[in-house]
Amino acid sequence: MLSRLVSVTLLILGGRIFIDIQEVTAGRARFPKPVMVYKLLSFFGDNIVASEGEEWKRYRKIAAPAFNDKNGKLIWNETIRIVGDLFENVCCKYNSSCKSDFMSLQIALFVLGAAAFGRRMSWKDDEGIPPNHKMTFKSAILEVSTNCFIKLIVPEWAMGITAFTRKVRLASEELDRYMLEMIWSRRNAEKKEEKDDPLSNLLEASSDDSSFTDRDLTGNIFIFLIAGHETTAHTFCFAFALLALYLDQQETLFQHINSVLPEGGLPVSCELRGTSWVLYETLRMFPPVTAIPKYSAEDTTLTISSATGGKRILPVPRGSYVSLNVVGLHYSPRYWKDPDEFRPARFLESDWPRDAFISFSAGPQDCIGRKFFETEGIAVFTMIVSKYEIRIKEEPQFARETFEERKARVLALRPGITMTPLRVPLAFKRR
Ligand code: HEM
Repeated sequence: MLSRLVSVTLLILGGRIFIDIQEVTAGRARFPKPVMVYKLLSFFGDNIVASEGEEWKRYRKIAAPAFNDKNGKLIWNETIRIVGDLFENVCCKYNSSCKSDFMSLQIALFVLGAAAFGRRMSWKDDEGIPPNHKMTFKSAILEVSTNCFIKLIVPEWAMGITAFTRKVRLASEELDRYMLEMIWSRRNAEKKEEKDDPLSNLLEASSDDSSFTDRDLTGNIFIFLIAGHETTAHTFCFAFALLALYLDQQETLFQHINSVLPEGGLPVSCELRGTSWVLYETLRMFPPVTAIPKYSAEDTTLTISSATGGKRILPVPRGSYVSLNVVGLHYSPRYWKDPDEFRPARFLESDWPRDAFISFSAGPQDCIGRKFFETEGIAVFTMIVSKYEIRIKEEPQFARETFEERKARVLALRPGITMTPLRVPLAFKRR
């Protein structure tokens, strides 16, 4: 058994063996995803992430057109509105501080709600619980997307045992009800509005295809939320932390934004490449998804090469587990010069090593929401950095720490469904 469990990583620990990762990601039939690993993510219904073969193809065909230019415009406009609202109403009003992790979770959630499902949420806790519910939509979705891993490890019969698991269970039931209501109200709306969000595409597909059930709809709505929420939020949180630690890089970004933005104006286009370099460098250093699982569907081979260039054929028996080691690849000095340094400008080079950057995976099953994230991220960071200087909040108990200690504290993380920052207290100062 053990001999069949071959863990192939682009950079195996010790840093001496390499494979061409495209061989694995491009060969979907040879190296499919082990659907069993993902099946637990199907508790609201089958979906694009937890499927393979013809089923996956069908979901991908339905979902892909939704992430188009019109949706891009909607994401951009909604993000500008949400961050503007944040300036007006919440923590960044003038010189104030806030917890970056919580702020990032909320920004990502509000943009997803508005631009993926046409459901706006507010920074103020004034939503009110609708009569047929026990939680607001915002609380249900925040609870589920933060703690859904509990449903993955605790069996259904044990979910009633502690107050915490009962809350997660209630939030899941509530979210399910909200999702079904969203479907019903869109379907039965007297005046059909043309919307540019992925939910509309899913609904349209379901009306053309009777085999596409309401459970297919809720399963995919949920998976967009899960796949798009934490990944985006944690990347934002690490990006804020890195900019607050490396003030010279923040100043470079500020100058870049100043040179592109009309004086005092709102960002009007996505051509703020300096902002995307910061996001990419953050994703290189802190990829939310640290390993991408595949398995070998047939007896096959992979070509491996050593750091000195020698080549060898590695037999990969059918059924072998193949894990793409994202972190190992992103820190490999073979591709990235001084990989431990936060240096966004490395993405300025036209020949930056694209094949060695797999935060969004690669090949036909790569991330469908990449553009969604990039558009939102550029809008968020352009708006915030143009108006505020971001610093690590000064706290008396850490007054004597060195830069290295501060960096280790602020960038501390724990593994989870995605790589999760522990605590990032920030201070915002109006420029
Ligand atoms: C920083 C942001 C993001 C990162 C790093 C990221 C990363 C990834 C990765 C690594 C995969 C492949 C997973 C696997 O094969 O196991 C993936 C797939 C996927 N992502 Fe993202 N993602 C991000 C944002 C989003 C957003 C915003 C959405 C939706 C709005 C989204 C929706 C999806 C979906 C639906 C899939 C499955 C695609 C398929 O199997 O065809 N992601 N993402």
